[in-house]
Amino acid sequence: MKPADNTIHMPLLGFGTLIPDKALTISATRDALEAGFRHFDAAERYRNESEVGEALQAGLAAGGIAREDIFVTTKLWNTNHRPERVELAFEASLKRLQLSYLDLYLIHTPYAFQPGDDQDPRDQNGHVIYDSDVTLLDTWRAMERLVDSGKCRAIGLSDITLKDLVPLYEAARIKPAVVQVESHPYLPETELLEFCQEKGIVFLAFAPLGHGIRPGLLEDPVILAIAARVKKTPAQVLLAWAIQRGTALLTTPKTAARARENFDISPLPDDAFDEINNIQTRQRLNDVVKTGVPGFIPQNKTKH
Ligand SMILES: NC(=O)c1ccc[n+]([C@@H]2O[C@H](COP(=O)([O-])OP(=O)(O)OC[C@H]3O[C@@H](n4cnc5c(N)ncnc54)[C@H](OP(=O)(O)O)[C@@H]3O)[C@@H](O)[C@H]2O)c1
Repeated sequence: MKPADNTIHMPLLGFGTLIPDKALTISATRDALEAGFRHFDAAERYRNESEVGEALQAGLAAGGIAREDIFVTTKLWNTNHRPERVELAFEASLKRLQLSYLDLYLIHTPYAFQPGDDQDPRDQNGHVIYDSDVTLLDTWRAMERLVDSGKCRAIGLSDITLKDLVPLYEAARIKPAVVQVESHPYLPETELLEFCQEKGIVFLAFAPLGHGIRPGLLEDPVILAIAARVKKTPAQVLLAWAIQRGTALLTTPKTAARARENFDISPLPDDAFDEINNIQTRQRLNDVVKTGVPGFIPQNKTKH
């Protein structure tokens, strides 16, 4: 891939590593690799990059799989947005993941937090301490330098709105290759998807199963009826819909059986695809896009 090019070859079915338990991170990552997943999404903020790295190294060796055959992403956390912190954070992630290069590095959210070791800096009233001395473009310029260095194949953004993406896209020397956001039939993000498709940016959906929240997408009557009709599980229907509408996705099965299930996706008939497009329910499950504070991680479990 040429440095100023945003063309990227990313497996559409991605395995997400947002798993608070360390032993489960290792077993689920191994199971995903064994089931056929070749795209792994990590983050400094998930505090388990070392376990992801350990599982990948062991899994690659056991399966005779080459490093080049997998696609690994990690993300720069909000407390590392100052340009002088970006390369250090990148190198630390690389080391924990036991890798010599990354396929993709994302700015985890567009919100800069007070720089430092505390990933969740708060004032005495419990409010997040933001950092107004750095812009998203400042951080992006430092990300571009990582691509120039050759240690990072592509860069992108996560938890960003179309309104904030457009000016960044226009100012960028190296255009974002990927945008990772919450998306599922209750939050299709169609306008953002259309922009990404027009610009050749991969739209990478997280929470394609609605984060497994019940009641929710996995129990939606339209999804259940289609699943029964096409003889697939509700999860397989939701994942197939995401691929069919031209997005890539991240899913987090935690057992070998679910990893195999979530990897076994086949196209939906047109009428089923249209029925899902016509679901009218609208629901956002993660507020991170509005605040920079991750919504799926229970705060009491992530404190050191
Ligand atoms: N950029 C961001 O801010 C951001 C935010 C959130 C997530 N992410 C990324 O996206 C990845 C995926 O997110 P997600 O956890 O929301 O994904 P998801 O696949 O929508 O939801 C995962 C949940 O679905 C359940 N599940 C998985 N496979 C299933 C199946 N076949 N049948 C029934 N339930 C199933 C799991 O339940 P069990 O727990 O019972 O196994 C798990 O709780 C994360 O790991 C992370 O890499 C990024």
